[in-house]
Amino acid sequence: MAARTPIVVGNWKLHNTIAQGETLVTELKNQLGTIRDVEVGVAPVFTSLSSISKRLGDSKILLGAQDCFYENGGAWTGEVSAPMLVDAGCSFAIVGHSERRANFGDTDSVVARKARAALDGGLSVIVCVGESEQERDSGKTMERVGTQLSATLEVLTSEDLERVVIAYEPVWAIGTGRTATPAQAQEVHAFLRKQMSQRFQGVGAGVRIQYGGSVKPGNAKELMSEADIDGALVGGASLKAGDFGAIVKACSARQS
Ligand code: 13P
Repeated sequence: MAARTPIVVGNWKLHNTIAQGETLVTELKNQLGTIRDVEVGVAPVFTSLSSISKRLGDSKILLGAQDCFYENGGAWTGEVSAPMLVDAGCSFAIVGHSERRANFGDTDSVVARKARAALDGGLSVIVCVGESEQERDSGKTMERVGTQLSATLEVLTSEDLERVVIAYEPVWAIGTGRTATPAQAQEVHAFLRKQMSQRFQGVGAGVRIQYGGSVKPGNAKELMSEADIDGALVGGASLKAGDFGAIVKACSARQS
């Protein structure tokens, strides 16, 4: 099977004005211009997308959105659709982030609809899954992430999979400074990969799975050395060009 190219994405969450975002991507372009063996992306707030797209110009850094609504248009106040994200210069969208699941009512079926709409609109999609601390403590990790993943797999075909990335983000590790150990993350990644290969055989097994949750320059290399960890979805550390660049380089050093 072809080696899986690592993918590192900065989820900026609700941070950065347009000007701050432009400065950040300019620094990233300067730092990462020579990196060839890692896909790199940033996901700014909606209002910055168009300006950041122009600033990225012909850079290989991909632009994505932090969410994508499941309808293309109509009376849906406050939402942004896949065709509109493409129009703003995006090539991917994140769906199912735990902050959306917890705060904005994104259920497994809503996440699946959003993933489907993103793909139908021409975007790639990063589908996030992850268990809460309580679920982990009560031994329900695999059940939880398995349910989350299967809801989205239901709406996918094997042709979709080259535009699909899964992000495993344990809720207890997001923004807490508590990272899953490489072994804890690897165990879940291997489980998710098995689930995808059961449904889609080899093509399912080839889908990239990012880890997210307090990834920093100091722990990225160790995480990436695990067999089933194919990159990172980075929150806090993606807001500093130096830290994000160091994480990308740690993934670049990974030999598959
Ligand atoms: P932190 O890297 O800040 O823990 O955030 C992870 C995350 O939620 C990325 O989507």
